[in-house]
Amino acid sequence: MKERARELVAGGGVVALTGAGVSAEAGIPTFRDPGGLWDRFEPSRFGSWKGLGREAMERPDAVASFLGELRRVLARARPTDAHRALARLEDMGLVDGVITQNVDGLHQEAGSRRVLEIHGSFTQLVGVVCPHREEIDRRRFVEVLDRAIAGLRSAFVPSMASILPRCSADGAPMRPDFVGFGEALHGFEEAEALARTARVLLVVGTSGDVMPAASLPDTARAAGASVVEVGPGDATIHADVRLRGRAGEILPLLVPEEG
Ligand code: OAD
Repeated sequence: MKERARELVAGGGVVALTGAGVSAEAGIPTFRDPGGLWDRFEPSRFGSWKGLGREAMERPDAVASFLGELRRVLARARPTDAHRALARLEDMGLVDGVITQNVDGLHQEAGSRRVLEIHGSFTQLVGVVCPHREEIDRRRFVEVLDRAIAGLRSAFVPSMASILPRCSADGAPMRPDFVGFGEALHGFEEAEALARTARVLLVVGTSGDVMPAASLPDTARAAGASVVEVGPGDATIHADVRLRGRAGEILPLLVPEEG
């Protein structure tokens, strides 16, 4: 199986589709594994802006715990061997791009250049009422979280609006540009177009439970791609080749040796 996957990747034209599992070894919990984020924090309460806004007013301590966990894991997360292998494959001209459901920015930190973040990113702030965008690094994002947590724990009447960072241009509230449940994806048409160009779709660390991202393997396959799936469990992706194991252990094995 590994040989077949190695041959497919060595032929180039690879597009990667990644999910939370690709960052699991960076210490960022996945969503649906036992003990995962959605196991401990109900997604209808913590997975959408509407839910978070309500929780911030009604149960500020619960939101502070949720943000505290994000702060703890993001402050120390670094790209893994899996992120680095994908960046290396792009350098070698074998990977044409990465479509990621992750918002952690670790693909770019590892050196990947063409990354489509269809669920948004923690590295972008977007104005809630003003039209501005701001790029921030992980350190700044951790500071944003620290201020929000302090606000939730101390405000007399906590609310989402009172803990959001402010726009440097006009002082209006901004929010991290991640896609909550019920919101439109970012650049999904571009992601579909990229998936259609793939000779090989390399699917890494996603349960395949969340639409429309989970439709991309079938989109690629319908356009003639082979689908290689990497992960430890039973993802609901239709794959031609399945490689069972951790992304950080398997992806480096798919990088052709030079020389
Ligand atoms: P899930 O938590 O649903 O799935 C993570 C997958 O990674 C599972 O199939 C695990 O078996 C696998 N996995 C765990 N550790 C791994 C490792 N070391 N190497 C490789 N694979 C590993 O996460 P996603 O599929 O990314 O959306 O979830 C999709 C979306 O659901 C997220 O983007 C998020 C969430 O709700 C929004 O917030 C909009």
